[in-house]
Amino acid sequence: MKKIGQIMTAAAISMALAGSGTAYADEGMWLPSLISQRIEDMQSKGFRLDAEDIYSINQASLKDAVVLFGRGCTGEVISPEGLLLTNHHCGYGQIQKHSSVEHDYLRDGFWAMTRDEELPNEGLTVSFLERMEDVTDRILDGYVTDMTESQRDSVVKANSDALVKEVTTEGKGLRATVEALYYGNQYFLFLYREYSDVRLVGAPPSSIGKFGGDTDNWMWPRHTGDFSIFRIYADKDNNPAPYSPDNVPYTPKKFFRISLNGVHEGDFTFIYGFPGSTREYIMSEGVRYISDVSDPAKIALRTQRLDIQKKYMDRSQAVRIQYSSKNAGVANAWKKWQGEAGGIRRLGTVAAKQEYEKRFSEWAEGTGYETVLPRLDSLYGALEPYMFTQEYYTESARSIELCNFAMSIWKQFKEYGRFLGSGKASDAAVTDSAENAFFSGISKTAKSFYKDYYAPIDKESFIAVMSSFAEDLPEDFQPAYFKDGIAKYGSIAVWADSLFCNSIFTDSTRVLTLTPADSAAVSDDPAFIFGNSFAEWFAKDIAPVCKRINSEITLLYRTYMKGQMEFEPEKAFYPDANLTLRVAYGKVQGYSPADGVYYEPSSTLEGIMEKDNPEIFDYDIPQRLRDIHSEKDYGRWAVTDAQGNTTVPVCFIATNHTSGGNSGSPVINADGDLMGINFDRVWEGTMSDIVFDPDYCRNICLDIRYVLFIIDKVAGAGHLLDEMVFAGINTEK
Ligand code: ARG
Ligand code: ASP
Repeated sequence: MKKIGQIMTAAAISMALAGSGTAYADEGMWLPSLISQRIEDMQSKGFRLDAEDIYSINQASLKDAVVLFGRGCTGEVISPEGLLLTNHHCGYGQIQKHSSVEHDYLRDGFWAMTRDEELPNEGLTVSFLERMEDVTDRILDGYVTDMTESQRDSVVKANSDALVKEVTTEGKGLRATVEALYYGNQYFLFLYREYSDVRLVGAPPSSIGKFGGDTDNWMWPRHTGDFSIFRIYADKDNNPAPYSPDNVPYTPKKFFRISLNGVHEGDFTFIYGFPGSTREYIMSEGVRYISDVSDPAKIALRTQRLDIQKKYMDRSQAVRIQYSSKNAGVANAWKKWQGEAGGIRRLGTVAAKQEYEKRFSEWAEGTGYETVLPRLDSLYGALEPYMFTQEYYTESARSIELCNFAMSIWKQFKEYGRFLGSGKASDAAVTDSAENAFFSGISKTAKSFYKDYYAPIDKESFIAVMSSFAEDLPEDFQPAYFKDGIAKYGSIAVWADSLFCNSIFTDSTRVLTLTPADSAAVSDDPAFIFGNSFAEWFAKDIAPVCKRINSEITLLYRTYMKGQMEFEPEKAFYPDANLTLRVAYGKVQGYSPADGVYYEPSSTLEGIMEKDNPEIFDYDIPQRLRDIHSEKDYGRWAVTDAQGNTTVPVCFIATNHTSGGNSGSPVINADGDLMGINFDRVWEGTMSDIVFDPDYCRNICLDIRYVLFIIDKVAGAGHLLDEMVFAGINTEK
């Protein structure tokens, strides 16, 4: 009998991942350093390069042209001078920060015509993966099987910290993380070089970069020119350095050549990027919670907020700019959850998993794995009301902007209080600097808050989501403070009137004149008290239970994962996504979303013209694009479509397994050249984070030729093309 809890060795896991294992059609997000195990399959599907071309620690490889962009997107280097491509929605926050009613780069686009005009972005970083490595033995050194999960966590943490410290001294700008794969059956070190001077070079107007807006988001056919361009800067030695006018464009080890060969159904495609999070191996009970409980509740709460935002955004251009980024964020997950819950139901994933679990349990008799599923099942039962409360709280009380702001201002007082408590207040110079930190902290937080704050939206949202909170959560799962408040005010609406009227936080002048002596003005403020009471209740009554049960669940999943690998020894298991670099491969292919309907795999400018409508915000394109279309002035970007029209390609879909975080990822062809930029998935396939279905799951990509066409013909920034290297036919200018 096998002993559970014993560590599956790295070798055994690699076996499970080995090339002999079969993967289902195009499903999978593979680790680049182990890609040699899949390279034969990739080559049999058309790929013409080798494993070392994808990932190598000895020579420049494609991985050296891929970056983690910010903390949740991917980008790719496309010139020897550090030019970087990502999505418009990934650069959205930066474009928005540089925008005002006078210079509305979101609306009008932005193009730096010289290097001097490229705009720095505080806080934005891009990270190149230097190397990744299996460090399981080192991380579990000192772990013995009878340790508790929290003792094990301490061992893992201590070993990880030591390793991170050791490797980050190897050079400048290094950042390392140790990540658990397969629920901690395996650990990998990821060493990154992080650049922090990343400047905005260009972005199309939103009417191109966000064409179709939230109406078309997560949908096919799609016509969104979802790209923006940045440039990485480095110090004179090509090392990472904070922004400085003396920095110079970064010289990459590797950059992508741009393919001008076009996109055809059946073409091999490969996505290199940073998918954020998937849960492919969870049990039926976890899936049921997502599709039947969590997604529907979150969708309902967000629907209320979105309706309110829309009402005010439609009335005012200023409010539209203020809430554009927030609104897109709220709408995005809202729509994805709808596709996800629908997809899980359509596929019958809960029943399919139950059936799998039945077979697993039969097999498990006498192996030591027989108790894992019943134990998981009962933990899920215990977790559900707490988890539901946690998610509900996040989507309701935690979404009140005024209360969140009040709490972040309070942090400045706490900092200052810590300084007073430190006994250093007798030193005048130290006092001065603590005061300066206080004032600049307040002013920075307040300015960025008020720039994008519109109280009527916040207040109406407060009434809506807090009313739902009162109705939908059992009384035992509501804070006493909240129940007392409702009793006192009689209704949420009356409470909101009082809170928004009496809070100092709706008054920017008052907030900007706060001094360290005003702590009572904050701690007695109704918005602060509201946010803080909820936070305290959550931290005391809800979070610890979620944390405890979740850690027991993770521990059981470690066992269940290992059991699944033994149960199906022939199958190739890829680790769930965790924002580490992955390779997914597949092909350009259409799909059939419903009986009698077949979607072609590519879209063109003709589709943009079909949707064009100056009356509809999401479909109102720039006049320049209309003119170019009527003159068919496409230059070298013209193609002939299946109907014989002369047009320009826009988007295409493929069968690659991607997730949130893969936005901006390079879509690479059989020769390793760039054919597009990944930016979305189709609505019918968003359950791919839980279950991948080859018939419905498609990733949506922007055709690189549309990017070039927009830069060249619409933006008049053709000089950027001079930096790029083209591959394939039609490379003549
Ligand atoms: N659905 C894509 C992704 O998850 C694009 C999101 C941005 N666009 C939007 N309309 N909200 O990131
Ligand atoms: N749009 C997503 C992103 O931002 C990609 C996806 O979820 O397919 O990463």
